[in-house]
Amino acid sequence: MLNRSQIAEEAENTGSSPSINPTMGDIISARYDRREWLRGALAVTAISAAVSPMALAAASRAAAQTAAAKSSFDFAELPAGSTETHAVAEGYDANILIRWGDPVLPGAPAFDPMAQTAAAQKMQFGYNNDYVGYFPMPGSGASTHGLLVVNHEYTNEELMFPGLGEQGAKSVNFSGMTRELVDIEMAAHGGSVIEIRKADGGWRVVPDSKYARRITADTPMRLTGPAAGHARMKTGADPQGETVLGMINNCAGGVTPWGTWLTCEENFNNYFTGATDKHPEAASLKRYGVPSTSYIWGRFHDRFDLTKEPNEPNRFGWVVEIDPFDPTFTPRKRTAMGRFKHEGAAGAVNVDGRYVVYQGDDERFDYVYKFVTEGRVDTARRQANFDLLDSGVLYVARYGADGRGQWLALRHGEGPLTAANGFASQADVVIETRRAADLLGATRMDRPEDIDVNPKTGKVYLALTNNSRRKAEEADAANPRGANLFGHIIEMTPDGGDHAAIGFGWDVLVKCGDPSVAAVGASFSPQTSKDGWFGMPDNFAVDSRGRLWVATDGNSPARTGRNDGVWALETEGPQRGTSKHFFRVPSGAEMCGPYFTPDDETLSWPCSIPAKATRSPTPSPPPSRTRRPAGPTSSPACRPAPRC
Ligand code: FEO
Ligand code: CA
Ligand code: CA
Repeated sequence: MLNRSQIAEEAENTGSSPSINPTMGDIISARYDRREWLRGALAVTAISAAVSPMALAAASRAAAQTAAAKSSFDFAELPAGSTETHAVAEGYDANILIRWGDPVLPGAPAFDPMAQTAAAQKMQFGYNNDYVGYFPMPGSGASTHGLLVVNHEYTNEELMFPGLGEQGAKSVNFSGMTRELVDIEMAAHGGSVIEIRKADGGWRVVPDSKYARRITADTPMRLTGPAAGHARMKTGADPQGETVLGMINNCAGGVTPWGTWLTCEENFNNYFTGATDKHPEAASLKRYGVPSTSYIWGRFHDRFDLTKEPNEPNRFGWVVEIDPFDPTFTPRKRTAMGRFKHEGAAGAVNVDGRYVVYQGDDERFDYVYKFVTEGRVDTARRQANFDLLDSGVLYVARYGADGRGQWLALRHGEGPLTAANGFASQADVVIETRRAADLLGATRMDRPEDIDVNPKTGKVYLALTNNSRRKAEEADAANPRGANLFGHIIEMTPDGGDHAAIGFGWDVLVKCGDPSVAAVGASFSPQTSKDGWFGMPDNFAVDSRGRLWVATDGNSPARTGRNDGVWALETEGPQRGTSKHFFRVPSGAEMCGPYFTPDDETLSWPCSIPAKATRSPTPSPPPSRTRRPAGPTSSPACRPAPRC
């Protein structure tokens, strides 16, 4: 999502690709967006997709009545719009599974937003979730019992701390922040592992699970791969350069075939403060947008102060691998996969057995990457795969105007990636991934968010969420609109079905926005209804039939006349480019990354809830277990901000 980190970056023109400067209009827009979007606590919603006969009949009638229902998606389309509660297509249920402050670890205290502590938050669910991943429980029902992993991306002090208000404004300068409050913020970052089970038609968190885990900004992690142990990774607290405390601003991620969770550090730059005029890596810091004024952690923790620990920023911006089945597992930061503002890390086992992970760097004019492992996935021995992501080749994408693309290797010693350009080793290449990609001539994209593989077809889908700063004269084939307010989706086809291939074909699947407004230049198929189009694609899910589902971030009544939500998007046959609306979030909330259970019966997702929802600060009621036969879903008991 366009979160506080990115917004702050825009205001300061940091962390974006060289030569791009914001206009005052961009800055005003960014400030407005922050107020509009960054409100509220978060919840994870599980959707029970059991369809009743009544719903099927309704869907059948709707199919006969609308051209859009010729779609391979057989649900009755949801009207697009803006409501204070969520809504889901007829015949489907939407229930809250877990919310900010709910217990994760055994013995977690009851949520009390009026007296929150770091110790409590370290045992409780966080918020600002962007990603869920589901791991079926071995030996149990694959689609009825498993582990859910969820990120906790960032925090908003104006939502967490009653009466404190927003602290980042220059006039405030974090004057209300204390070490105690910063420590609560740090405890609310990271992620959670929870055990969930479906019974009587509803999902529940298994209390006191032996798998339950909270990962925070203080959890010890091991650096692995080419940058581990390098001089640029060493700090006073870690003279070996091999161990780092915590992960921050983790956004989307991925699930590996060997059953681990990849969670991706995105806007890590916003946690570092201090002057850079005498910093030995000032240019590198600037390319990543360090320092920032979003948080004040450096006032109380030296490692976030650049003047005291100049190398600490190099230890963030990585993909983190976690074994959710082992709560004692030390998370690994896989430096071979590159350092940038990672959105996600979805992969595929290649035809030759190597694992290929696709990644987006979510910044205006930044790049699309893939990582190809050197070794092959061992399907017989799970543990044998645990170091697979430490060796391989990182590539960045260049999109040609002819619909062909090329993956450019970020390999030390090749092309411009030599000592003459400041790359003395592969460690330098991965620590400064962005600069290496700049020198290789990668294509500057419109904010790459999720990139996912369709395992049925081998095609790869890339969400470019928007880029209002692209000038008309900067438009190119892969980013075809100047002032791209609504984003687009690119489909990539690896040559020969080989994800490790250097060449690929590509096409713009759909340019987003209102197709009825010619100036927008949207390109949904004509079968798409007035409810079916969307703007700002962000995250994807692919179901077991290989169908694509799109989650959005940034729709609103003012921008698109609709809230964010989930749309089902046809990718094959005569319906290609046809989209149908399935779910919408409450006003002011963001729809984040969905994930299907193996049987497609449940689609779970994280979702932000607007702050103006009301809730007494008492323990939450249990989620509904009732399977609703048909009709619009009722509002869930959302957990709002402590004070709104
Ligand atoms: Fe955290 Fe790119 O969204
Ligand atoms: Ca996003
Ligand atoms: Ca996202």
